[in-house]
Amino acid sequence: MKGVVLAGGLGTRMYPLTKVTNKHLLPIYNKPMIYYPIRTLVNAGIDEILIVTGGNNAGDFLRLLGDGKEFGLRHLNYTYQEGEGGIAAALGLAEYFADNGKLVVILGDNIIEGNIRSAVESFRAQQEGARILLKEVHDPQRFGVPVFDGDQIVRIEEKPPVPASSYAVIGIYMYDRRVFDFIRTLKPSERGELEITDVNNFYIREKKIAWDVLEGWWTDAGTFDSLQYACNMVAKTGANKL
Ligand code: DAU
Repeated sequence: MKGVVLAGGLGTRMYPLTKVTNKHLLPIYNKPMIYYPIRTLVNAGIDEILIVTGGNNAGDFLRLLGDGKEFGLRHLNYTYQEGEGGIAAALGLAEYFADNGKLVVILGDNIIEGNIRSAVESFRAQQEGARILLKEVHDPQRFGVPVFDGDQIVRIEEKPPVPASSYAVIGIYMYDRRVFDFIRTLKPSERGELEITDVNNFYIREKKIAWDVLEGWWTDAGTFDSLQYACNMVAKTGANKL
């Protein structure tokens, strides 16, 4: 199975840290942010990886990562997103790379303590549809939040002011080839982006989504506070352990 790291967008929330560099090149303790999601995919047995970059410093990804040798990869694929049309817009750029196969997608600012190998194995065995990962958090209103009926997810709400559960949909998603058909039908949300939550809701409406709860800590690193938290957690416990 192939993997995609989404590291596009302009990182405007992190200004001025992102004035002269890309958010995903900022340090998380002792490594650039982008190392962690790549390592997450590699540890799950994924060795064909596309990096979607964007912004003004796309060439720096190539200088930093080269052909991916440091991760034990034979080569890395790159593409470029203009502007910040949203996570689903960035994923749409991976259609040619996916070549009708299944994909594991990870947001470039998502960092985990453990690994996703068992979820990826379950998705390999899943005939079709999507698979998402959840994590209980104290601030679900910052994320996509699942609404449950028993153990069924009936929909996901993006950054709800009053969250229906204490879970976040984390930024690791697994999709079959139909994801690109769904993305083509999306309309921009109120924040002017094509939302990954809308993509997941397509799969939910068709009852074609499975989910797992991630073990170990998880954080994004897309705000000043979560960046600091990520640095502290990596320093204290390490990340991407096998
Ligand atoms: O971290 C998990 C959360 O990520 C989910 O719970 C939310 O449902 C999902 O919408 C997303 O929320 P954020 O608002 O935190 O996403 P953000 O705009 O910060 O983008 C996260 C990463 O996605 C970013 O580091 C790079 C990639 N991205 C984002 C945009 C807007 C792109 O590649 N292109 C883009 O245009």
